[in-house]
Amino acid sequence: MALHTLALGENLHTVLRKTAQFQQLPWISLVSRNVTKEAQHDRERSQSVTAFYYQSAIDQAAAKPSVRLTPAAIMYAGRSHDKSHILRSAQYLSKELPVRIAHRIAGFRNLPFIVGCNPTLLQVHELYIRAFNILSNFPVITSLDQEENFSKTLRQLLDDHNDVVTLLAEGFAQVRKHITDETLIRTFLDRTLTSRLGIRMLCEHHLSLHDEKPNHVGVVNVAFSPRKLIEKRAQYIQSVCQEKYGKAPEIVCNGHLNSTFPYIQPPLEYIMTELLKNSFRATAEAHGTTSHLPEIVVTIASNENDFVIRVSDRGGGISQKVASKVFDYNFTTAGSVRQDQNQEVGIWEGFMDNPQSSANPGKMHGYGFGLPTARAYAVYLGGSLTMETMQGIGSDVYLRLSHIDSAKESFRI
Ligand SMILES: Nc1ncnc2c1ncn2[C@@H]1O[C@H](COP(=O)(O)OP(=O)(O)OP(=O)(O)O)[C@@H](O)[C@H]1O
Ligand SMILES: [Mg+2]
Repeated sequence: MALHTLALGENLHTVLRKTAQFQQLPWISLVSRNVTKEAQHDRERSQSVTAFYYQSAIDQAAAKPSVRLTPAAIMYAGRSHDKSHILRSAQYLSKELPVRIAHRIAGFRNLPFIVGCNPTLLQVHELYIRAFNILSNFPVITSLDQEENFSKTLRQLLDDHNDVVTLLAEGFAQVRKHITDETLIRTFLDRTLTSRLGIRMLCEHHLSLHDEKPNHVGVVNVAFSPRKLIEKRAQYIQSVCQEKYGKAPEIVCNGHLNSTFPYIQPPLEYIMTELLKNSFRATAEAHGTTSHLPEIVVTIASNENDFVIRVSDRGGGISQKVASKVFDYNFTTAGSVRQDQNQEVGIWEGFMDNPQSSANPGKMHGYGFGLPTARAYAVYLGGSLTMETMQGIGSDVYLRLSHIDSAKESFRI
């Protein structure tokens, strides 16, 4: 069956299942066009992926519910000298991860055919199938030796999946013209990105149970200071901004500056980096001709249930025409700037490669993924992200998040 005869409304899963000649379809070569160079590698990959495409194990796992934990449950899970808590954690993960990954594979299969066939998105789909394959074939973990192997496998998989956000951003940018149902894509990306965040938090937590880090229980920083995080990220972004624009605004923090509480830092680090990056860029671009830039004010408020961080800039705000789109995936105004300032693009491009940014080590520059991803993370963490803008003046972004140790249940990972 020729690809062009397929109904575009159908999803990849339905279409491929209907196709008797599926084994001959060139969909794997869509993933890697470099067939001549790596023919052997591709053949092996093709076999494993096609075998797993049909595997009922994925369907069975996808039908199971995910078992999500509260941060408090993770934090207070008993520690034992015989390391049985590490073993229990590995046993939970080895059951739970294949289920979560299978849910995501189901998400890829349900994408509209023309979207799911995009080579970059197929590459991510394949990474998930491979991870499912590896984890579901892992022997039952009954000893600490097996746990050690399991942890090595997890570390490797985390590394292999480092670029997933960038690949999704690139892939969806490429298929934008075929997308008619924006909600479908938003739902897919919200779920895929937050599921990835949850999986990575659980894996990092498990891996960190092996080392004792001051003030940490696994991935939870028990004395987290929002102010310190903001100042650390701002300092880095300031230096990048200085390099790109030849100037950078100052940051002023106010409010509950001394508050500390238990929190899982990496997702908040990602969100704050994205918000600050936007405010620095807007401020530098809105005041192109003056050397003095208005400062960015970050206000912290912490109460018994939640905490709020407001980022306030005088970066000119957002026009009405654009304001309704800023939370859409792949919406960006960075394109025009890139063309105007070609020689300077490199600095922003490497921006999110910053190794300090553990939440997002991939490249995330001008894909229009910053705000929608930050909002999806905030909602996943039991909070919200909203923006108020005054065109001609500036913007205020409010990030509200629940405390993880408050009396009411905050969220589940
Ligand atoms: N503080 C702000 N002031 C003015 N405009 C903003 C501000 N924050 C976001 N925007 C506008 O919203 C658009 C989308 O923001 P978003 O962070 O999602 O993507 P981006 O910054 O363009 O790219 P990326 O975050 O992927 O590097 C931006 O291109 C910019 O036009
Ligand atoms: Mg951004």
